[in-house]
Amino acid sequence: MTTPSHSLWGGRFASGPDAVFRAINDSLAFDWRLVRQDITGSKAWARALGRADVLGQDEVGRLERALTDLEEEVGQSLDPPFESGAEDVHTWVEQRLVGMLGPLGKKLHTGRSRNDQVATDLRLWAREAIDERRAELLTLQRAFVDLAERELDTPFPGYTHLQRAQPVLLSHWALAHAESFHRDAARFSDARRRANLCPLGSAALAGTAYPIDRAALARELGFEGPTSNSMDAVADRDFVAETLSAAALCAVHLSRLGEELILYSSAEFGLVEMDDAVTSGSSIMPQKKNPDGCELLRGKAGRIIGTQAGFLSTLKGLPFAYNKDLQEDKEAIFDAMDQLSLCLTLAERVVAGCRFARDRCMAAAAGGHANATELADYLVEKGVPFRDAHEQTGRIVREAIALRCGIEDLRIDDLRRYAPAAGEDVYARLTLSAALDKRSVQGGTSPATVRLAVREFKQRLGYGP
Ligand code: ARG
Repeated sequence: MTTPSHSLWGGRFASGPDAVFRAINDSLAFDWRLVRQDITGSKAWARALGRADVLGQDEVGRLERALTDLEEEVGQSLDPPFESGAEDVHTWVEQRLVGMLGPLGKKLHTGRSRNDQVATDLRLWAREAIDERRAELLTLQRAFVDLAERELDTPFPGYTHLQRAQPVLLSHWALAHAESFHRDAARFSDARRRANLCPLGSAALAGTAYPIDRAALARELGFEGPTSNSMDAVADRDFVAETLSAAALCAVHLSRLGEELILYSSAEFGLVEMDDAVTSGSSIMPQKKNPDGCELLRGKAGRIIGTQAGFLSTLKGLPFAYNKDLQEDKEAIFDAMDQLSLCLTLAERVVAGCRFARDRCMAAAAGGHANATELADYLVEKGVPFRDAHEQTGRIVREAIALRCGIEDLRIDDLRRYAPAAGEDVYARLTLSAALDKRSVQGGTSPATVRLAVREFKQRLGYGP
């Protein structure tokens, strides 16, 4: 029995694999995305074998040239070469090398296993994908900073329980979202740090039997260093789980942003209009402008969270070391990172294209008795204990609701009936600008504070004065 041309392991087997087994086992359809990483890792492995005197320098040179040719042949091809019959991308690369170099092609896998190979490939891929998401997150944060600068002094209704609570600045709201995306970028960086170790040299699970300089090999591939334990190195997919976790939380943040913009752009709120380019119409109702983009920001979060939960479930029962269950890592991380990339890019377009209705924002910020806390604070300044001030203000709000007016519309005598400490100077404290100006604590929403916060945020992102 000869080894079937598509297989790396035929020798032990009297008959070939069942079609349905191949359908579940073959991974070429999706791990084709690792072809560049597989070639990069293979070149480094060839050089490492050369340094260990397992291969001659001439052999290393020929292998490297063939791998470079293969890289060019592959180009940016997205279509897996199914006609090759290869089980996975590692098989395909080796098969092509043997086709190009004959027996020398068969030497490359010396001392290496697909277990340390795939773990290395995927870490290389994750590293790049994380860098791309961080770049997208940076662009999104800049869109929020731009919005904050455009709308620096625009008052905006601040909600708790989705009830108007206190006025804030729209710029403060924009930076609030920017903060969560800043943490997402940091989480991705953190995941990258732990992903950035090189499993090559761990072989199947016990470590390679050849005198490989793993530190040099790791350095060559841009890793921080080699992994410490060969069994852990081939069994560990924490870096996938951590990347998915960062992706899921980021998706949650995008979902919350989407939800807010969906609400705020409805006629009932009327605070913002989204750009036509990120909305769609209805096939029957000509007047409709639907926030589909934001709805998908919200919807995709479910899918990414599901991917993370699913992959953790895949890991939870696995005995050490490698098991084929781990092959599920790829579709999970590819899909989550692809979907997140779409969402981040769209979110940037959405934020950049938002036109806020300043008059409506201002009216909403001023309405809803959102200056009640100001009145209570004013009474405290006049010596009233806060609990009493709260009670007196509550009664005044009740009165204003009954009269269908704001508390600032009540005459001083009416105010004094509930709050005897109130004087004529109270009205100046009940204006929108007074409420905003008072919040000058660090992290607060006063215009001066937000101005500083914008500058500080730009410095954090590495631009601006
Ligand atoms: N396609 C496999 C994976 O993604 C490659 C590693 C196969 N290892 C093995 N021992 N069969 O996990």
